[in-house]
Amino acid sequence: ARKIIIDTDPGQDDAVAILLALASPELDVLGITAVAGNVPLDLTARNARIVCEIAGRPEVRVYAGCDRPMVRKLVTAEYVHGKSGLDGIELFEPGMPLQPDHAVDFLIDTLRREAPGTVTLCPLGPLTNIATAFERAPDIVNRVAEIVLMGGAYFEVGNVTPAAEFNIYVDPEAADIVFSAGVPIVVVPLDVTHKALTSRAWVERLRAMGTSVGNAVAGLTDFFERFDMAKYGSQGAPLHDACVIGYLLKPELFTGRHVNVMIETKGEFTVGMTVADWWRVTGREPNAMFLGGIDRDGFFEILTERLARL
Ligand code: BDR
Ligand code: CA
Repeated sequence: ARKIIIDTDPGQDDAVAILLALASPELDVLGITAVAGNVPLDLTARNARIVCEIAGRPEVRVYAGCDRPMVRKLVTAEYVHGKSGLDGIELFEPGMPLQPDHAVDFLIDTLRREAPGTVTLCPLGPLTNIATAFERAPDIVNRVAEIVLMGGAYFEVGNVTPAAEFNIYVDPEAADIVFSAGVPIVVVPLDVTHKALTSRAWVERLRAMGTSVGNAVAGLTDFFERFDMAKYGSQGAPLHDACVIGYLLKPELFTGRHVNVMIETKGEFTVGMTVADWWRVTGREPNAMFLGGIDRDGFFEILTERLARL
């Protein structure tokens, strides 16, 4: 199985991503590292463990990481995800422990211990933990197999400002470090995730599973949909972060271009923008596979099939 580390700020869509990964035998989740993002760190570290317990996987190792961006003040998104970050289901105090190590130390130790080129990083929130690990231990950078991240946008531009997507916007300096590191990167931007919309029929199918995972994902989706109602109406909500795991499982469901992507850190109106050279006008070396398309039905098919296994 492919070894992955999920770096996350749950978040309803992060929760679906974690469940999809834990349900998939092709993936070996070495650990889950929590970061401040949608809600503060204490909540994301708790939410990640709640999701593992819902999946029936309390042995998964969850680490708490950075509680704020590298240089900026933390911006959160309770207006999207609710006060808890996981509004929509009954929350509880998880019984499984938080690991004693800091997430950044776990990232560094794991990348040094595992064979080079065998560990894939899956960032689903601001890139603070990953960039901090790269800064502190530059020797690990070349040992990363690949980074498949949710963040950024091109044609869809922004969701938190007119120009920027939330994960990149919250810690653009961290994103800049990661995109400049020279590691192979696959970007799952809003252009993809805004095509991965839930439907009423899908939510009802989940409920009909009659499992705690089916009910949980249905409840989370019911809540999460509210935010995107204005944009998509009854078409549902984008399952942003789950698309990252979908790509790991079935890359053939996605299309994109290998292009140069730069992160705006100084612009007056554009901080956090992913400046993707889609038309290759700069002559700069491509540093990321920037996805743009998704086979929506194929994605929901594997997602539903996997969630039913839990
Ligand atoms: C991203 O921001 C968060 O609110 C979601 O969990 C996702 O990772 C979408 O812009
Ligand atoms: Ca997220």
